[in-house]
Amino acid sequence: MNKKKITLKAEGLVGGYGGMNILNSIDIEITQGEIVSIIGPNGAGKTTLLKSIFGLIELKKGNIFLGEVEVTNQSPQNMVMSGLSYVPQERNIFPTLTVKENLDMGAYLRENNLKESMESIFSLYPVLNEKRNQAAGELSGGQQQMLAISRGLMSDPQFLLLDEPTAGLSPKLFDETFDSILKIKELGIGILIVEQNAKKSLKISNRGYVLVAGENRLTGTGESLLINKEVANLFLGGQ
Ligand SMILES: Nc1ncnc2c1ncn2[C@@H]1O[C@H](COP(=O)(O)OP(=O)(O)OP(=O)(O)O)[C@@H](O)[C@H]1O
Ligand SMILES: [Mg+2]
Repeated sequence: MNKKKITLKAEGLVGGYGGMNILNSIDIEITQGEIVSIIGPNGAGKTTLLKSIFGLIELKKGNIFLGEVEVTNQSPQNMVMSGLSYVPQERNIFPTLTVKENLDMGAYLRENNLKESMESIFSLYPVLNEKRNQAAGELSGGQQQMLAISRGLMSDPQFLLLDEPTAGLSPKLFDETFDSILKIKELGIGILIVEQNAKKSLKISNRGYVLVAGENRLTGTGESLLINKEVANLFLGGQ
């Protein structure tokens, strides 16, 4: 099947918390099957941007389109129905539920093909299959992160928004996480990823956006940003 790839496009996003704006006119876009990185210093507004796209924060200005359809300021539930999934910075698993129960929870807005999704997740992360009946709280940190990503995949998204998936993981687990993100891309899903490990993330990215103080500072292909002097000075020093 050769379905047309959809683009998620955010234009001129302005928003924040209460009266204070954190995002000051941000533009960003990603097409299915792409990996796009958002990098920037602490407090730049990266998490706020993902939350705003997913409908967790109301936008004061700007538009979000999924293909031709406008989805600005839709509820997170509607965003899930429209094909978006969000994996927050804090690992959001239910520690006392089993691995399988956690995955079932990720699919609560869906009706069909659950078995197929679960099987494709288990082939992505075989260890989750081995531990499917174990409490999620007993998994290692890396496995909990795999589970959080997998839970996001259970809604069968077209786009996955990942906030710092490698936070707190060992370098070996970084690599495993990035490998699995590449496999998710192969499924035709667009992955919008916020990362502190800017170099590793840009290496696997089609494109990247550098945010500073709630504004687009630089945009380009992953490769062009990797060799950009300003990016190197700002974010890649010592890595
Ligand atoms: N719930 C909130 N209420 C008020 N201000 C907030 C809230 N969450 C974040 N902020 C502020 O918004 C700004 C941007 O925060 P955000 O979490 O989006 O940054 P970030 O780029 O994700 O940073 P980090 O790299 O530390 O994760 C910061 O100044 C932060 O203090
Ligand atoms: Mg953040």
